[in-house]
Amino acid sequence: MDLTAEIITLPNDHPARSKALPWYNSSISGALRPSMSFLPENWSKIRAGEVEAHIHNVASWKVLPRPSIGKFRFLEQVLLRHPSYEQVLTALTTRSTPPPRFLDIGACLDQDLRMLASAGVPTDQLSGTDIFPKFERIGHMVFRDEDQFSSTQFICGNSLSHDAQDSLRDTRGPWSIVHLSMFLHIFDLDDQERVCMRVMDLL
Ligand SMILES: C[S@@+](CC[C@H](N)C(=O)[O-])C[C@H]1O[C@@H](n2cnc3c(N)ncnc32)[C@H](O)[C@@H]1O
Repeated sequence: MDLTAEIITLPNDHPARSKALPWYNSSISGALRPSMSFLPENWSKIRAGEVEAHIHNVASWKVLPRPSIGKFRFLEQVLLRHPSYEQVLTALTTRSTPPPRFLDIGACLDQDLRMLASAGVPTDQLSGTDIFPKFERIGHMVFRDEDQFSSTQFICGNSLSHDAQDSLRDTRGPWSIVHLSMFLHIFDLDDQERVCMRVMDLL
């Protein structure tokens, strides 16, 4: 599949493609720490020796010149380090009616959803939203799990816009847990406050 042709929209000389940017890593093996192989190996069932080649093929800088890609942050299990992680996991795996629902805002490749699923959370309780429309498909290619989620669980939209907020509310809400990781710093203070108010609304 020629992802390059389909996904690349920036011209070749666009500054975002520069390999001088601090978030570009020239070598995957230098940037991949052992803990980052957890999801590809345990969730996607990619053999240990094949993780680097697989990641390089489907989520390389050439395909997606973005900080989360250049630094391989999409392989970090950020939520795992959150002080409330165990509480979140317990809430999501304890049977209740209706089942609790988890929403990741600014989810990138939805790696935290995969991490929760690999820890035993039923995938239909998990959703993510991001402004970048290709992440859903690239996420499936990285994690090889298209058959595990429905497309309604990946909501594309600008979390600052009312339209996206409405679709989040209408699609699945109310949400039991809303997760933001490395997200608020993108915005100025006014927009950070708007995002937080909307998170409260979604809850
Ligand atoms: C720094 S990344 C963090 C990704 C992930 N949460 C993590 O912890 O690695 C920020 C993410 O927010 C998304 N994003 C930026 N502005 C957004 C907006 N207005 N609405 C929704 N998502 C947005 C970006 O596309 C990107 O995937």
